[in-house]
Formats: sequence, structure tokens, C-alpha cells
Amino acid sequence: MKLLVIGSGAREHALAWKLAESSHKRFPATVFVAPGNAGTELEKDLKNLPITAIPDLIEFARKESIAFTVVGPEAPLAEGIVDAFRSAGLKIFGPTQKAAQLETSKDFAKAFMGRHGIPTADYATFNSAAKAHRYVDKKGVPIVIKADGLAAGKGVVVAVTLEEAHAAVDRMLGEKRARKAGPKIVIEEFVEGEEISFIVMSDGRHTLPLATSQDHKRLEEGDQGPNTGGMGAYSPAPSITPTLHGKIMREVIQPAINGMEKEGERYIGFLYAGLMITPGGGIKVLEFNCRMGDPEAEVILLRLKSNFITLIEHALTGNLDKIEAEWDRRTALAVVLAASGYPDSPRKGDAIQGLATLPAMLPEEKDYHVFHAGTATAGGGENGEEIVTAGGRVLCVAALGDNVRMAQRRAYQIAGQIHFEGCQMRPDIGYRAINHRK
Ligand code: AMP
Ligand code: GLY
Repeated sequence: MKLLVIGSGAREHALAWKLAESSHKRFPATVFVAPGNAGTELEKDLKNLPITAIPDLIEFARKESIAFTVVGPEAPLAEGIVDAFRSAGLKIFGPTQKAAQLETSKDFAKAFMGRHGIPTADYATFNSAAKAHRYVDKKGVPIVIKADGLAAGKGVVVAVTLEEAHAAVDRMLGEKRARKAGPKIVIEEFVEGEEISFIVMSDGRHTLPLATSQDHKRLEEGDQGPNTGGMGAYSPAPSITPTLHGKIMREVIQPAINGMEKEGERYIGFLYAGLMITPGGGIKVLEFNCRMGDPEAEVILLRLKSNFITLIEHALTGNLDKIEAEWDRRTALAVVLAASGYPDSPRKGDAIQGLATLPAMLPEEKDYHVFHAGTATAGGGENGEEIVTAGGRVLCVAALGDNVRMAQRRAYQIAGQIHFEGCQMRPDIGYRAINHRK
């Protein structure tokens, strides 16, 4: 059996690693990762494929008789990779370009939620800066300004002063640079509360909720500093009680999947809802993502005990109602090691030390995994090759423990063995879950 994972981050490393592991319970599969990173290259069952153009990927999938493809990040979905693979008669897990608009267009997502009664913050959409400025003055602060299109995590400004709000409007609508991210903006009411993520698999009609998880988006200790893609995560998320879980499924997930079907565009793939739980216990959707979260995927997949290949096969045949997922009862916690200068201008090319000696020092490899994100191999190490930083988030160290504290201790113990110049690592991943338990 041959499988293909699209992407190059720690999420894709985790997806491919889990698929390969699952295949051992049946017949060992080769899992290709396109394009992958230095970490996927090192794994014995994974093979990097240095291809990113969709037509080339299709040709490869055909030639190699790939059983199915899983798409990691949003960019290829936005490009229409699922539509293209399906037209070529190839199996692929992910939403079509149209369905992916839930993530790729804030305006589409907000209007969709309105049509289907999904709770979200009040908003208005603008393409004229003058009107947007007047709206900001009328509404006051705090207020949230969002670029309509994909903006790699830089498209949202939570403005606490009018100056910031007006500057964000100008930056997103006034200057040419931001126009690439979309000439429209959404201005949204500021919602207070606790932010959580909720991720499901969907077969177009039925959904299978994955284990709960929560990430830490800010760069610095205590959830301070700039927003990032995520500096760490843990699973389960203790704030998602069974009651809240049911409410999210009823009020957000099922209406979204039903809504897409009603609109003629069945949603197949991972669906990620970014939610704010208000002090009164209400839910507001902040965003949808049409993929797994990163680093949420790393902690979720470390806990998955069911066969991941079987789950995806069920999703691809519309049978997710006939299967349940089983999870390790322990907590998984992941710490991200980011490059110097991340998120604004990450530096590349710093040599990473300590990776090769880890397995000997920590033989209980089943209880942790070091997922690579922005890494590459370069000539010059002891064996003629060394691993260097090649992106913003460099590594993601995920570990299991009997409770959050133990998972945390273990993840930091392992992360402490790895070094590169300028490494940024938050020291407090999981503190909210620990406080929650108190
Ligand atoms: P988004 O990409 O829409 O999730 O926004 C990025 C971050 O901005 C979120 O993770 C929240 O922390 C924050 N955010 C987005 N929308 C709102 C809102 N309406 N009220 C408060 N914070 C928000
Ligand atoms: N960790 C948040 C995301 O993947 O969007």
C-alpha cells in the first residue's frame, strides 16, 4: 500500500508518521510526504517527494497507485488540489476549493454562519477604507479587523485603541502590499472569553470528533506577545466538558456540515472550529479552518490508538457513523521550538544539535515524538550531513504523561536536549490546563 501526505510541517510529519504506524497493523505501507522536511526524510517508513505542483502530484499518484492522499495545510486546498485529484479519479481526503472557503474567505465564512444559524460575532464587510473607518468610529474599541483572504496568520488585528484599528484598516485596504491577502476586510465585534479549538473529521454527512485540544497562540510566556501559528498545545483540553462538547457539536459542527451539504458542496476533510466560550457559557465561532491545527495535530495524533488508515477510509466512503476513535487516556503536550526572529522574520540555516543522540538517551520512544517543521539537511555535519533550521517553527516536541504536569515535564526534558542558535521556546505550555485542574 502506498499513501501520500501533502505538506512540509510538523502537522504533516505527524500525519504521515501515524499513517505509517497504522499500516504496520495491516501491511506496511510506504508513506510519501510531498515535499516533507528533514524529519520525514529520517523516518524509516516515510519518503520525501520533492514535488509541489498539483499536476505533477497527480501524475505521481497515478503512476505509483497511491491508495489515498491526505492534505495537511490550507494552501493546496485553496489551490484546488482536491478538485483536481478527484477529477483524475484519485482518492484524497480534504475539502474542495469551494468548501475550503470556510477558511479561505472570512466574508464567506461569516455569511455562511449567518445562513445556517451558527453563532458568531456581529460583523460587517468592507472594501472601501473610508466606510470601514466610519464603522470603526461608530463601533469604538476593542474591535477586530480581519483580512478576507488567507494571510498566513497575519490577517487578524485585535485593536484596543482607535489608532490601532484605523491603522489596521489602512494596512489591509489602503496599501498595495496587503491587497494580495484580499481587498476585502471583515470588521467584527470583540468577543471576550476562553478560546478553544475543536477539530472533527467529516465524510460530508457524518462527523467524528477528534480528541479535544488547545493551543497557545502567543509567542511569549503568559500568553503575551505577538500571535503565532501556535507555540504549543495539549490534549485533552479540560475546559471542554462533556456538556460543552455536545453543545459545540449541536450548535456549530453539525449545522456547518449540514449547511455545506444543503448548499451543494459536501464538506469532506478535517474541520477545525476556533471558538470563544463566553463567560456566560455561550459559544461564538471565531474562525473555521479546513485542516487540522498545528500543533494541535501533533498532540491529537500522539494519543490516537485507532487505526488512522481505517478512519480515513471510512471518511472517504461516507461511513464515519460506523466507527469510533479510541484515544490514549494520558495527556499529550507539545512544545514548539521556533527560530530566532519568528514570527516576523525567522532566521534560517542554524545548525540543530542533540537530535541524533535522543533515541539513545530516551529509549521509551512510544511515549514521545519529535516532529520536524522547518528543518532541512545541509552538508557539513559529522556524517557529512547536518540538520539546520529552515522555517519559523522548527521542531515540535510532543510527549505523553499521566497528567498535564507529567506530560509537560517530559516534553520540556526532551526539548531541553535540543539546541540551536536563537531558539525560542515558551516555558509554560499547558499552564491553563494545570490551573483548570486546581
Ligand atoms: P482568527 O484567525 O480569526 O482565529 O483570529 C486570530 C486570533 O484573533 C484568534 O485566535 C483570537 O485570539 C483573536 N480573535 C479573532 N476574532 C476575535 C473576536 N471576535 N474577538 C476576540 N478575539 C478575536
Ligand atoms: N494552531 C492553530 C492553527 O493551526 O490554526
